[in-house]
Amino acid sequence: MTTGLGRCPCESEAEEQGVTRRGFLAGAAALLAGTIASVLGAAGLSYFVSPAFEKEDENWIDVGRASELRTGAPVKVDYVARKRDAWVVTEKRSSVWLSNLGGGRFIAFDPRCTHLGCPYRWDQGKQEFLCPCHAGVFDREGKVLSGPPPRPLDRFPVKVVSGRLLIRPVDEKGAA
Ligand code: FES
Repeated sequence: MTTGLGRCPCESEAEEQGVTRRGFLAGAAALLAGTIASVLGAAGLSYFVSPAFEKEDENWIDVGRASELRTGAPVKVDYVARKRDAWVVTEKRSSVWLSNLGGGRFIAFDPRCTHLGCPYRWDQGKQEFLCPCHAGVFDREGKVLSGPPPRPLDRFPVKVVSGRLLIRPVDEKGAA
């Protein structure tokens, strides 16, 4: 409605309200789009990133209380390694030789001899690891003392978390 004085004040008020409403709707739409993009982005990012962290946690295996491992002699400990591939979980029984060197230092030895992979044992009297297959001999820290083994005993990464001894075994292909 127009009057002799120009535009009706109610029109400009309605226009202002229209702009405000449009602005509000545009802002709300942008906010909604931003929220959806953030949620989808975070979900997509976690899909790619989280397996790396899960894998890290899964590969460390709890082999017991660190305080229960005496410094006197290495101990062979059996454990079950679980591997998850999507929804499939496989279990593999294995063992590790654990040695407490004192002062919070621990060694976790691969239980296979570095010559041809035979299981070796600890001789408490001689204070040596002995491999029965070809008479390989290692000292307490895994160094070769005699026999055909080409290198010291292989070690697994080991750490203490909240008083628990964790190891990360490595398979024949070098994968954790
Ligand atoms: S496998 Fe151990 S010495 Fe040969």
